[in-house]
Amino acid sequence: MSKRIDVNDLNVYYGDFLAVEGVDMVIEARSVTALIGPSGCGKSTFLRTLNRMHEVIPKAYVTGKAVMDGQDLYGPGVDPVEVRRQVGMVFQRPNPFPTMSIADNVLAGVRLNNRRISKGAAAELVERSLTGANLWNEVKDRLHLPGSSLSGGQQQRLCIARAIAVEPQVLLMDEPCSALDPISTLAIEDLISELKNDYTIVIVTHNMQQAARVSDRTGFFNIAGTGKPGHLIEMDDTTTMFSTPSEKSTEDYISGRFG
Ligand SMILES: Nc1ncnc2c1ncn2[C@@H]1O[C@H](COP(=O)(O)OP(=O)(O)O)[C@@H](O)[C@H]1O
Ligand SMILES: [Mg+2]
Repeated sequence: MSKRIDVNDLNVYYGDFLAVEGVDMVIEARSVTALIGPSGCGKSTFLRTLNRMHEVIPKAYVTGKAVMDGQDLYGPGVDPVEVRRQVGMVFQRPNPFPTMSIADNVLAGVRLNNRRISKGAAAELVERSLTGANLWNEVKDRLHLPGSSLSGGQQQRLCIARAIAVEPQVLLMDEPCSALDPISTLAIEDLISELKNDYTIVIVTHNMQQAARVSDRTGFFNIAGTGKPGHLIEMDDTTTMFSTPSEKSTEDYISGRFG
């Protein structure tokens, strides 16, 4: 269920503005890749290119390659909707459909993909996805209640359940814990560690301890100044990045000297 992504000389534009330049990156399957770097260096922008969400912004486009297990995500004839099914995304603020029930929230992505599904299969998928998101025990007796009845941390796990219900290969997470309290953050981090057995995970985080705790590999992005493009400065095993990075700017950022 898990695939690797090879990014090659990727440039990301908003109209004339080159926001991220020349990224080469290998994202390993069944592992957690953390992307770190100061605000505005293009982490979210880069992340959204991995499921072709970047191009939904008017005049936004990409040059270069992002290849998932041999398939160029930007190749001719590739359907961006299918890419988004295979590469799911979880956002900074939990965004369940507030009035939709917990169960229907889990099924929302599946229904968007026009998959017909029997009642029994739907119930099974709801249980499997919520179990996978470590939420089942907390909500199994109130599946009919609205998504908004859950706490922030539960809502984020509901969004993860919704994302995994469509059986993606890759999960992108853009600062998934930044709106959560420390206990909910730990619950999500535990969940990420479990999910990597089945999925390729890329997580953007501004929390260095979180990157160190959850990720196998870490990439550091930086910008030379406002209006300049962001670059991937270096990428390595997380333990190496946090102990002996090659670049001075990585060390400065990790040790809290800037950003
Ligand atoms: N929708 C957009 N339209 C134009 N520029 C954008 C848009 N979103 C982000 N940017 C610009 O792209 C650059 C990178 O932003 P972003 O990817 O959000 O950085 P990060 O996630 O690292 O904080 C910034 O200069 C930002 O202003
Ligand atoms: Mg961001």
